[in-house]
Amino acid sequence: MQVGIDQIGFYTPNKYVDMVDLATARGEDPNKYLIGIGQKRMSVADSSQDAVSMGINATLSYIDQVDCDQVGLLLMGTESGVDQSKSASLFVKSALKLRPEVRTFEIKEACFGMTAGIMTACDYIRAHPDRSAIVIGSDIAKYGVGSAGEVTQGAGSVSVLLKANPRILSINSGYSAYSADVNDFWRPNNSPIALVDGKYSKEVYLDFFTRTFAAYQRQMNYQVSDFAALVYHLPFVKMGYKANQLAIANQNEIVQKRLEQNFGLSSYYSRNVGNIYTASLYLSLLSLLEQGKLNSDSLIGFFSYGSGAMGEFYSGKIVSGYEKMLTPNTNKQMLARRKKISITEYEQIFNQSLVLPQDNHFLDSDEENGYWYFAGTNQHIRQYKQK
Ligand code: COA
Repeated sequence: MQVGIDQIGFYTPNKYVDMVDLATARGEDPNKYLIGIGQKRMSVADSSQDAVSMGINATLSYIDQVDCDQVGLLLMGTESGVDQSKSASLFVKSALKLRPEVRTFEIKEACFGMTAGIMTACDYIRAHPDRSAIVIGSDIAKYGVGSAGEVTQGAGSVSVLLKANPRILSINSGYSAYSADVNDFWRPNNSPIALVDGKYSKEVYLDFFTRTFAAYQRQMNYQVSDFAALVYHLPFVKMGYKANQLAIANQNEIVQKRLEQNFGLSSYYSRNVGNIYTASLYLSLLSLLEQGKLNSDSLIGFFSYGSGAMGEFYSGKIVSGYEKMLTPNTNKQMLARRKKISITEYEQIFNQSLVLPQDNHFLDSDEENGYWYFAGTNQHIRQYKQK
């Protein structure tokens, strides 16, 4: 039985900062951000968008086409959690009106959370072939105004429906995982922004990629040349570019060209959205699917990385007719609808988002109609509304 991705949805908030403006404001050469880091724009979430509302919005884009009675599992990976106890997925479940029998919880291991959810969901469907699972990654990357990591911020969510006989990507059994207790990036409970040893995190990422990719090829008897594309967790585009360069070293010109071209296509959305932590790898997949043209049965390799740190490599095969399941124009419009904001506006929004709105002080949203938003707290209970 094939198990894999049958639907994929994406949401990013309606404001962005241009990296040339940010570089100018920080006294940096714009090419450092555009080329050295690889980012062009970053989406900015104001106080009315959080991990929950973005996760609802990403799932809303396909939920009408889902048999909700079949959904048995709803998992949410996030490192922008809105509560220390209650799962963010419960708010999503309520907004989507999923049935009470759904098993639902939140998963945390930095940017690895959505992959953990997908692996759990695949095992669940293999055990319950008549059931489907929704897995969401949703995050706002916050490093701080004027910090070295500021250029690698972003906001958004990707949601997937997994089921038997999927119509987009069939996920192969087998994986290679690697974990170690390291301190490259973390966010203490009392801090709304992440702490990061940026240079060290790049070393750990590449080390984990090299280990898991080599172990996976040995396990599955694959060679680099078997892959049509490799997609990466992209905290910033240059990070994945470096891993891809390691992967294609020593390959012939045809293989190098194919994997380089497909890396370019898979990084297009991230370059324009920024880091969305848990969902970033799946934004790379979406970008490749919508920007590229893939033959059925093409082998796609996935490298997932979560600081702290956990790395995993796995693969999937493109299903014939996958294009019919995509909505590239909707996603193009979603990126185009974003309003460019000045650095002063971004800084105000950023500083406001570091504190919760006062209890019983209700927020409005300037999003388009139909999207959900966080409307503040009532008796300290979070309220979500649809515009
Ligand atoms: N033109 C082109 N490239 C330029 C440049 C210019 N004018 N100026 C600098 N660069 C290049 C540098 O050579 C470097 O490239 P390299 O990585 O290939 O060596 C790159 O731009 C970044 O420069 P660097 O000095 O390392 O930047 P930084 O000290 O400001 O920090 C990060 C960059 C990524 C470490 C920082 O943004 C960060 O900590 N981000 C968050 C960390 C993160 O996401 N880690 C991954 C977790 S999974």
